[in-house]
Amino acid sequence: MRKQILVLPGDGIGPEVTKEALKVLKKVAKIFGHKFSFKYGLIGACAIEKEGIPFPSRTKRLCLLSDAVLLGAVGDPRYDNPKLKVRPEQGLLELRKTLGVFANLRPVFTFPSLFHISPLKEEILKEVDLIFVRELTGGIYFGEPRGRTEKGEKAFDTCIYSKEEILRVAKIAFDLAKKRKKKVTLVDKANVLATSRLWREVVMEYSKAYPEIKLECLYVDNMAMQLIKNPSQFDVVLTENMFGDILTDEASVISGSIGILPSASLGSRVFLYEPIHGSFPQAKGKNIANPIGAILSVALLFEFSFNLKKEAEVIKRAVRETLEQGFGTFDIVKENPLSTSELGEKIIKKIEEICEKKTFLRN
Ligand code: IPM
Ligand code: MN
Repeated sequence: MRKQILVLPGDGIGPEVTKEALKVLKKVAKIFGHKFSFKYGLIGACAIEKEGIPFPSRTKRLCLLSDAVLLGAVGDPRYDNPKLKVRPEQGLLELRKTLGVFANLRPVFTFPSLFHISPLKEEILKEVDLIFVRELTGGIYFGEPRGRTEKGEKAFDTCIYSKEEILRVAKIAFDLAKKRKKKVTLVDKANVLATSRLWREVVMEYSKAYPEIKLECLYVDNMAMQLIKNPSQFDVVLTENMFGDILTDEASVISGSIGILPSASLGSRVFLYEPIHGSFPQAKGKNIANPIGAILSVALLFEFSFNLKKEAEVIKRAVRETLEQGFGTFDIVKENPLSTSELGEKIIKKIEEICEKKTFLRN
């Protein structure tokens, strides 16, 4: 297979973890005989520094010419000042909008070898295997009007959704549930918000096309509680943009470290892959950040953009077995933690080992 991938390392620990993810991508491509070419672009704070804007036109052009986009992280505390007009995060939002990636998939899973680092009890962690489908290009993140009144003493944002925006992301959630445990949980605030009532109406109607799927609806405040009390009750969780943003950070606590969780953002053609951890500026340049979220994002890239399931499986298995051997970065291992690049190397060695046994090579 021949494909072009756009790599956007971004800010903070983005470049470090992306480097390891790329090594894994190249290794797996070589073993399985795929030819990938790579282009690199700027986004976020590094783009503001070099080009004055967080999503330069070159990056925009390149992402539309590529077959998939691999992103590290976006954000820098130097831009945290609320008075600033140009911020790194705007680049990420523009990227999502440009690619039209309306469905953000964020799987939440546990590794038994990491049960001890989660703040939750072991019996709660067993059998957790859920996936968030977060709407990513609508809602309050993008709604107009937004801004300040003339004198600046009031500010406003608009949460707006169309039936069409809800339907297309619902389809992704129900299709995923079909291949999984056949349950969709819609999270909303339908007791208060008009947009949530539209979500409920549209999704309940749409669910009739999937008689084998059980649909349940939960208010977001209850969900925040259920997610910690009994996360194994969930399979596919469908929700709007901002609820999804908040709940997926919460859900990352279940797995023990936000550093291990990947994401895939799906839309019409070019999909986007990024770890969910963000730029983690305190660790920038120290070679200590966990590369697993980025590496597992590569597994999702193989699976969702190129339908290469064996390649994805090899990466996931290599990560699991490396963790089972007790290797990890500082966020998951207290004694003798490995550096970002050392953990990357261990995972690559494991991939070689698995593939040498030939059980995963092409038939
Ligand atoms: C995320 C991030 C972004 C979001 C920020 C950086 C704009 O928190 O991907 O979850 O809010 O979507
Ligand atoms: Mn977030």
